[in-house]
Amino acid sequence: PARDGLRLGRHSPAVVAHRGASEDAPEHTLAAYRKAIEDGADGLECDVRLTADGHLVCVHDRRINRTSNGRGAVSALELADLAALDFGSWKGRAADPEEPDQQTPDPDSTAVLTLERLLELVADSGRRIELAIETKHPTRWAGQVEERLLALLGRFGLAEPPPGQVSPVRVMSFSARSLQRIQAAAPGIPTVYLMQFVSPRLRDGRLPGGVRIAGPSVRIVRSHPGYVARLHRAGHRVHVWTVNEPEDVELCLRLGVDAIITNRPRAVLTQLGRR
Ligand code: G3P
Ligand code: CA
Repeated sequence: PARDGLRLGRHSPAVVAHRGASEDAPEHTLAAYRKAIEDGADGLECDVRLTADGHLVCVHDRRINRTSNGRGAVSALELADLAALDFGSWKGRAADPEEPDQQTPDPDSTAVLTLERLLELVADSGRRIELAIETKHPTRWAGQVEERLLALLGRFGLAEPPPGQVSPVRVMSFSARSLQRIQAAAPGIPTVYLMQFVSPRLRDGRLPGGVRIAGPSVRIVRSHPGYVARLHRAGHRVHVWTVNEPEDVELCLRLGVDAIITNRPRAVLTQLGRR
């Protein structure tokens, strides 16, 4: 059967829902993460930013203009400002601008999501779910994003791995500096160095000091498939984003990547024969 044909890699990769099941529900909302858990995703990816009053919220862009009915930078707004806005209806409008949804919006699909609420959702799920948390704008706050993140993880017992186990949490960033702050303060939390391109000094598969996992974009993997093997030979795991097309899933399997980060966890799990 076709699904056996896809098991060409060393093992089946973890399937991580990018901004939640963000093809089906507005990205970074509780509804998107609930759906990803229902779909059977192994992990959840989220971006975190600090509000002006020091709360970590799950928002991708520097500004809220694309994903809410408000305007402005997250870093200039307080949590109460964000809580008054609608972070979900944009998705329905984008899908069908002629037919605005007449139903009362469900708060789980429209409210800004704090990282704290996401951690509660994961804790309440009753199963092990990996959390891939990406620090955004780490330079803007000179260490405060990482500090608040580790304090919050500590409250949920997640700042250290459970005894004898690998941590279910990992911190990802395009900023090596942000990852180094995490490594220094919480050495038990694996870090993922995200890459949009491969800088010449990293072409041989090396990563910035102390980083265990590489996070290349699927474009890198498509254009330099040999890079995954180089990373593996250098002792790193490889988590690829954002893998939405079936042929890219197949490529990731052939190359034996360790995690697929996708907006479509249900479809990927089906392709892997896990649903
Ligand atoms: O999972 C990594 C990926 O999310 C990085 O890119 O722009 O979607 O945060 P971006
Ligand atoms: Ca991200």
